[in-house]
Amino acid sequence: MLWVQHKKSQKSVAFTRATDGGVFNAIIWDVVVDPSFQGIGLGKAVKERQIEELLDKGISNIALYSEPRVLGFYRPLGFVSDPDGIRGMVYSRKQKKKK
Ligand SMILES: CC(C)(COP(=O)(O)OP(=O)(O)OC[C@H]1O[C@@H](n2cnc3c(N)ncnc32)[C@H](O)[C@@H]1OP(=O)(O)O)[C@@H](O)C(=O)NCCC(=O)NCCS
Repeated sequence: MLWVQHKKSQKSVAFTRATDGGVFNAIIWDVVVDPSFQGIGLGKAVKERQIEELLDKGISNIALYSEPRVLGFYRPLGFVSDPDGIRGMVYSRKQKKKK
């Protein structure tokens, strides 16, 4: 878990989270930047730091799910869609509506 704290307000303004199995695979779960702090490089900074830390641990495969509107954020960081034809699959159980 990595985050950036605004010194003045002590508020967390950028956050990212990943899990790894301690061998060579990791999954990034989130990256979120407070809307009033977006567009100044914080998202890119936390991602670059996270990737560096995972690589330093020997992790060589880092996967993530991306909404279509954010693909352009991840691509310059080195992420590619469907590498070698690999496709993501999801088992998703429909939640029952609460009455
Ligand atoms: C996506 C998000 C994390 C980007 O963070 P940010 O701090 O605003 O981004 P940065 O300022 O670090 O931008 C880094 C680069 O990515 C680009 N970029 C940012 N958001 C982008 C987007 N949605 N699509 C394409 N490029 C994007 C910037 O233009 C910048 O390019 P540059 O290096 O050429 O100048 C942020 O907008 C956010 O929190 N969004 C809501 C949550 C979300 O959608 N998370 C991703 C879930 S998959």
